[in-house]
Amino acid sequence: MERKRVLTGDRPTGRLHLGHWIGSIRNRVLLQQEMDCFFIIADLHTLTTRPEKERLAEVPAMIHDMVLDYLALGIDPERSRIFVQSAVPETAELNLYLGMLVTLPRLERLPTIKDMAQAAELEVMPFGLVGYPVLQAADILLPRAHVVPVGRDNLSHVEITREIARRFNYLYGAVFPEPEPLVADVEVLPGIDGKQKMSKSLGNAILLSDDEATVNRLVMRMYTDPNRVRADIPGRVEGNPVFIYHDEFNPDRDEVEDLKTRYREGRVGDVEVKRKLAMALNDFLAPVRERRAELAARPGLVEEVLAEGNRAARAGARETMARVREAMGMTYYRD
Ligand code: TRP
Repeated sequence: MERKRVLTGDRPTGRLHLGHWIGSIRNRVLLQQEMDCFFIIADLHTLTTRPEKERLAEVPAMIHDMVLDYLALGIDPERSRIFVQSAVPETAELNLYLGMLVTLPRLERLPTIKDMAQAAELEVMPFGLVGYPVLQAADILLPRAHVVPVGRDNLSHVEITREIARRFNYLYGAVFPEPEPLVADVEVLPGIDGKQKMSKSLGNAILLSDDEATVNRLVMRMYTDPNRVRADIPGRVEGNPVFIYHDEFNPDRDEVEDLKTRYREGRVGDVEVKRKLAMALNDFLAPVRERRAELAARPGLVEEVLAEGNRAARAGARETMARVREAMGMTYYRD
């Protein structure tokens, strides 16, 4: 049987942080064992809120940093394809056709789009931003993906993709599988401020490429139980970022349970809890940093990985577009 195809990806935001690892990359590293994975770096999607030339000029370095992080974390370019959205021009053509199969009110109802407009301080909605989920549908349908791993926040976009695929297949014949979303069953990793999810733009992130001293400093600044002004006051473990991180990154379960017990009983200081967390994080990150440095020292490596990914993604996209035009009957007067 044909292996299932997976498509997922990210907008190019540069270096990745611990939240990316927990929320998506860890899962991708596992998925690539059993499925054909395509990882898209969605640079066209950044245009929906940030079309300025100065912003675009930052994109190549962001892509480069991201690819190094993917590879350092174990995305294997021998198994998986990493590619750049704008290197697959078929995306634009499919986006146009798909835009005819969804209504404006359906798109305008989505809270995700309103949130993005607000975050970018846009008072009125650009046409392209309303079409964000349609462009995402084009990404997913071009490789005729079966599985789309996403965070909860992107589920509504996969649902729209399924509706569009159904509509296309109904109007023109069965070209697209209806892609299934795959939501990892993980807690969202809070930022070191403990308030919101980890995000580079909120300044509360620990980057996967941060050095040991930086990790130590950030962990020491981490928000814990605010009621615990002294070490002998019993503290709250549930929902406490330091313990959420311990649970995710400290493989020494006995140490974690001991710290939790003593924390609840007011028999351990924050400094000890944090020192042990910083050690666990640095143990996890040390090999990643090392691999990243090795990969970064190989000239042309990122370019090769992307060239190969782009080539493969484009070959699939051409094949799909031939089927799409054939199904639609859009084959007239072409050379
Ligand atoms: N919308 C995704 C994000 O929030 C990025 C993305 C673009 C994507 N195209 C995709 C994700 C296709 C999954 C599948 O960053």
